Amino acid sequence: MSVRARYSAAVQRMGRSAIRESMKLAEKPGVISFSGGWPHPDTFPVEELRSICGSLLDGRHSSCLQYGSTEGAANLRAEVIAFLKSMGVTASENEVLITTASQQSIDLVARVFLDPGDCVAVEDPSFISALAAFRAHGARFLTVPMDGDGMDVSLLREELLRVREGRPAAGGALGGGAMAAERGAQSAPLPMPKFIYTIPDFQNPTGISLSVSRRRQLLEVAREFDLLVVEDVPYRWLRYSGEEAPLLASLDTERRVISLYSFSKIFAPGLRVGWVAADAGIVDKLVQAKQAADLCTSAFSQAILAAYLRGGALPARLAFSTELYGRKLRLMRETLEACMPALPGLSWTAPQGGVFLWVRLPAGMNAEALLVRSLRKGVAFIPGDGFHANGGSGETLRLCFSFPSEDDIRAGIPLLAGALREAWDELVMAGGTQ
Ligand SMILES: Cc1ncc(COP(=O)(O)O)c(C=O)c1O
Repeated sequence: MSVRARYSAAVQRMGRSAIRESMKLAEKPGVISFSGGWPHPDTFPVEELRSICGSLLDGRHSSCLQYGSTEGAANLRAEVIAFLKSMGVTASENEVLITTASQQSIDLVARVFLDPGDCVAVEDPSFISALAAFRAHGARFLTVPMDGDGMDVSLLREELLRVREGRPAAGGALGGGAMAAERGAQSAPLPMPKFIYTIPDFQNPTGISLSVSRRRQLLEVAREFDLLVVEDVPYRWLRYSGEEAPLLASLDTERRVISLYSFSKIFAPGLRVGWVAADAGIVDKLVQAKQAADLCTSAFSQAILAAYLRGGALPARLAFSTELYGRKLRLMRETLEACMPALPGLSWTAPQGGVFLWVRLPAGMNAEALLVRSLRKGVAFIPGDGFHANGGSGETLRLCFSFPSEDDIRAGIPLLAGALREAWDELVMAGGTQ
C-alpha cells in the first residue's frame, strides 16, 4: 500500500500554498519581491529586544523558559486587555486567549466550529491561508464579492436568503470555477454558514477596508441569520490615511464577534504571538483545541511581549512603521501610475493602510503566465487565483509594499510594467483581447 493512500482525508484536501511556493522563487538572490506580506526588518525593535532578553535571562525569570498555561501568561493577557480597553473594547481575563499568532487562531476557530461539509462565508478574494485552514477542516465557501467599501453585505444577505430558502445559486456568488469543479462539492446545496470570516481593515489581499456603514450592516445581517462573525485584524494599526473605523467587536452587543489579533505585523512575526478575544464560552473551547495543538504559546515570546508592552514603547514603534509604510504605499502607487501601460481594465486598489495592493489585469490576461515573464526580469508577486475560495479568473495579482525597499519599488514596478506590456502585446497578436 502506498503512503499516499494512508493520508487522512484532511491531508488529501491540502495543497501547497501558492504564496509559500512563490516566495521560494522570490527568495532567489537578485529577485525583487512584492510577494509575501512581510514587515520590513527596520521596524523590528532589535535594541529593545536585546535588553529585554538580557534581563529575562538574568536568572530571576526562569519561568519564561518553562511551559506555560494554555490560556497564556497572565501578565501578557493583562497588557492585551489594557490595550483593547484603549481601543474601546472591554474584555475580561476569561475572554482572551493568547495564541501562536493569528494563523493558529484561525485554525483553532476552524477546529472548534467546522465539520466536513460545513460552510463559511468569506470575502472574494480572501486570505489564502485562512481558506486553506477552513478547507483542511472540510469547509465549503459562500463567497461574497467586494467593492471599494469591502464585502458587499447586501449581496451576502441575498445569498443567505437564497441558502435559507434552498434556492439554487445563480452562479455568481458561489464562484464555480475550475477549483470548485475539481472538488465536485459545489453542486450540493450549501448549508447556512457556521460563521462569516472577514478582514475588515486593509484586507489581505486587496488592501480594502470595510466601510463603517457596512460594518453595522454586517452585524445586522449576522443578527438576522443568527451567525457568528470572525474578524481578523492583523493590519488594523497600520493606517496611513483616512479615519479609523470601529472594530466589529466594539459594535457588537450580542457577543457574536470573535476577534483575531496579531503582534506579527506591528511587532515581529518571528515571535509568533497573537490573541483571540471572544465570548468566554467560545474561548474555553478554543483553549481545549489549543491544548491538543501545542499546549501553550511560547512562554519566552510572551515574556518578551509583556515586558515590551509594559515599557510603553509600542506607540512610538507604530508611528515609525506607519510613517515608513505610508511612504512606500505612496511611492508604489505613484510608480504604478507613472509606469503602467494604459490598458483597458487595468486597475489597482487605493488602500489607506496595511501592506498590500491588488491589481486587476485586462480581461483575457493571466497572472500566472505574467509571473513567469516577470520573474525572468527579476520581479516576483503573487497571482490572485489562490485567494478566490471557489476559483478565480486568472486576472488578478497581489503586490506587497511593506517588505521591498524604496529603491526596489522604484526599480521593480517598471520591470513589472514591462512584463505586462509584453504579455499584452502577445495577447493582442494572438487575438485574445476582449
Ligand atoms: C489576514 C491575515 N490573517 C492572519 C495572518 C497570519 O499572521 P500571523 O499568524 O503571523 O499572525 C495573516 C498573515 O499574513 C493575514 O494576512
